[in-house]
Amino acid sequence: MLYKHSVERLADTIKNTSGHIGLAFSHQIEDVIAIHLLFQAKISLSKLEFFTLDTHKLFKESLEYQKKVEKFFHISIVSYKISGDWLSYVDTEIGEWGMRESLQKRKQCCEIRKIIPLKEALSNKTAWISGIRATQSITRANVKLVEEDIHFGLNKINPLYDWSDEAVWAYAKLHNLPINALYHQGFKSIGCSPCTRPIKEGEDTRAGRWWWEDPNHKECGLHQK
Ligand code: ADX
Ligand code: SF4
Repeated sequence: MLYKHSVERLADTIKNTSGHIGLAFSHQIEDVIAIHLLFQAKISLSKLEFFTLDTHKLFKESLEYQKKVEKFFHISIVSYKISGDWLSYVDTEIGEWGMRESLQKRKQCCEIRKIIPLKEALSNKTAWISGIRATQSITRANVKLVEEDIHFGLNKINPLYDWSDEAVWAYAKLHNLPINALYHQGFKSIGCSPCTRPIKEGEDTRAGRWWWEDPNHKECGLHQK
């Protein structure tokens, strides 16, 4: 029921959205489900761009997974990344582990490696699709199907906003969707390699992201309220 309803409401939402829509692919299962829902909803590919933000800090498993997903759906995923000048700057200023030294440095790293390319990716879009869910963390508890994203000046569509972990994994199994190999190594949420680790049984889904920080502030700026 949830699955059918999710396809229908996504089809309606996209029908009511004019212009070009981006789907943000983060090498996690939610994004692959969102792509599958778009296909189920028979959305014209000419309306869509699948994109990823390549921070230059992604796991090799994630890059391999991206290729698998492209093959599985017969799609191309466009990579947005910072210029060489920005990369030299952030490599010098933050270095390999500087993001763990202070919240300020971590946010600066996310701002440069993720937000600059995100702004570029969204510059010609009227809406973007993300895989965030309300149960993922305290910071996402109020997420809706469609939100006005005031920070980036367009709408954000969250087709899985009310899905549980169980619903996500049951859907992936049902449709035999490709899975990032990191999930088999104890990762429950996947981001950049210096800032993501596997979690133990019973820990929160996002406990392995920026694990040294307070859970109330664990966002990188992609999803701001
Ligand atoms: S994050 O803000 O903490 O990094 P998270 O990893 O939970 O976000 O992913 C939530 C959603 O944000 C994903 O479903 C995806 O839509 C988007 N997203 C996160 N990271 C990326 C990325 N590197 N490239 C593209 N989209 C991303
Ligand atoms: Fe930098 Fe870590 Fe943010 Fe990636 S998640 S952009 S490595 S601080």
